[in-house]
Amino acid sequence: MDSKLEPVRDPKDLYTKIFINDEFVDSVSGRNFPTINPATGKKFCDVSEGDKEDIDKAVAAAKEAFKLGSPWRRMDASQRGRLLYKLAELFERDAKLIGSIITLEMGKPFLQAYGETVWSAGILRYYAGLADKVGGKTIPVDGDYFCYTRHEPVGVCGQIIPWNYPASMFTWKVGPALACGCTIVVKPAEQTPLSALHLAALCKEAGFPPGVVNVVPGYGPTAGAALTAHPDVDKVAFTGSTEVGKLILQAAGVANIKRTSLELGGKSPNVIMDDADLDEAVRFAHEGVMENAGQCCIAGSRTFVHEKIYDQFVAKSREMAEKRLLKTGDPFDLKTTQGPQVDEEQYKKILEMIESGKKDGAKLESGGAAVGGDGYFIKPTVFSEVTDNMRIAKEEIFGPVQQIFKFKTLDEAIERANATQYGLGAAIFTKSIDNAMMFTQGIRAGTVWVNLYNFVTPQAPFGGFKLSGLGRELGEYGMSLYQEVKTVMMKIPQKNS
Ligand code: NAI
Ligand code: MG
Repeated sequence: MDSKLEPVRDPKDLYTKIFINDEFVDSVSGRNFPTINPATGKKFCDVSEGDKEDIDKAVAAAKEAFKLGSPWRRMDASQRGRLLYKLAELFERDAKLIGSIITLEMGKPFLQAYGETVWSAGILRYYAGLADKVGGKTIPVDGDYFCYTRHEPVGVCGQIIPWNYPASMFTWKVGPALACGCTIVVKPAEQTPLSALHLAALCKEAGFPPGVVNVVPGYGPTAGAALTAHPDVDKVAFTGSTEVGKLILQAAGVANIKRTSLELGGKSPNVIMDDADLDEAVRFAHEGVMENAGQCCIAGSRTFVHEKIYDQFVAKSREMAEKRLLKTGDPFDLKTTQGPQVDEEQYKKILEMIESGKKDGAKLESGGAAVGGDGYFIKPTVFSEVTDNMRIAKEEIFGPVQQIFKFKTLDEAIERANATQYGLGAAIFTKSIDNAMMFTQGIRAGTVWVNLYNFVTPQAPFGGFKLSGLGRELGEYGMSLYQEVKTVMMKIPQKNS
């Protein structure tokens, strides 16, 4: 292993205060809240706790920075792009430190946290390149009129992000918003404020004017709800649970019809046909659900396997889970592939779901319990003989738990795969182009993979059908979330009239 990739186990000089108008300040109330290391269950840091008053200050700063004639509004689009390129460089410069902070606050294995940070720099570069390529249209309307559209920044954006991919969620939100010329108040998840505050410091270092990016750590029902309800926030972008997504859509509507984009839960199906490359399918299906200790919105948590290969597939999946258990542990160890769950609440919820699977009669092939000792570690778990009516077949578990179902025909698999309130991701493993075409057309999900799982890239849109969300992030589609379209009509004077 490259020795340069050693993590920083005990990072110094962490940013722990609220970031408003380019300054780190205490909360108005003076209150702090703890950050807990999920690998030990122990507090390692206190962070200023933002609430409504702090959100008000941050929104006022963002509103001021968005004023017509402000340095940000007057800045050339190409210069916004240059600042985003610079921010990407700073992400890479600090990737070891940012990765280490993520490992400490949410337990992601260091190599994955480092990789996530470097990958996130790519998101910033993608949007840096798009900053000066936003154009409207000229439209040939009837009569002596010149008609064109301007794609203008939507304004002040409230961005509420989760803890499962702290660096990448930050860039999915701020990248396109900054490229479009918006100003921002980020409310990071209460579990992961430290990485977000470090990224805030990098925004300042990159040279974004004061007030363009503000970061207010705090809890959801207080700071998060205040941001959603704020009348001066023009748009809210949220990633998290479907339950909170519904609250946000409602509050955004009541407050001021905020433009709203939501990236929510999932129960994504992964269909393995009998002509698939079996080992490839087993590996992708395993990684597809176990990645990030199962804490992934697009986790392939319903594995549908053709009856002809079912027994073999289950046996191989069990082996993979058993191997993974050997690499479950200290997230700072470079050999670790699975760390702890993010916090006690998630840990208990997952264990409870595992128990319900056992009770409902699913067959436990592997795992099925906590690892034991300190921290919130859960054994990689595989259930076979899962049927569609069980709770583990319907509800998002958000943990390292694979459910394997049996099917006979592709039509049946598509119908069962679609029988869910969610529609985020889906995959099919097959060598038949006909199967692939039928599946990609028939499935109701925002992303469909053929012979792979979990490939997400800056250039391609990402989002959900049904209760999995609203709008598409990433790619060019992601830019439209941060723009208003203005139609301009001008009368063309005629010589002889
Ligand atoms: P959550 O939806 O409660 O939290 C996500 C973000 O929303 C955090 O920043 C939180 O502070 C904020 N929030 C919470 N309540 C809010 C409110 N009333 N108003 C405004 N903001 C609010 O998710 P949580 O509690 O972390 O996890 C619960 C479940 O949600 C997980 O088990 C998983 O099923 C799902 N989830 C999905 C994610 C995804 O990537 N789509 C990410 C995190 C969780
Ligand atoms: Mg919650």
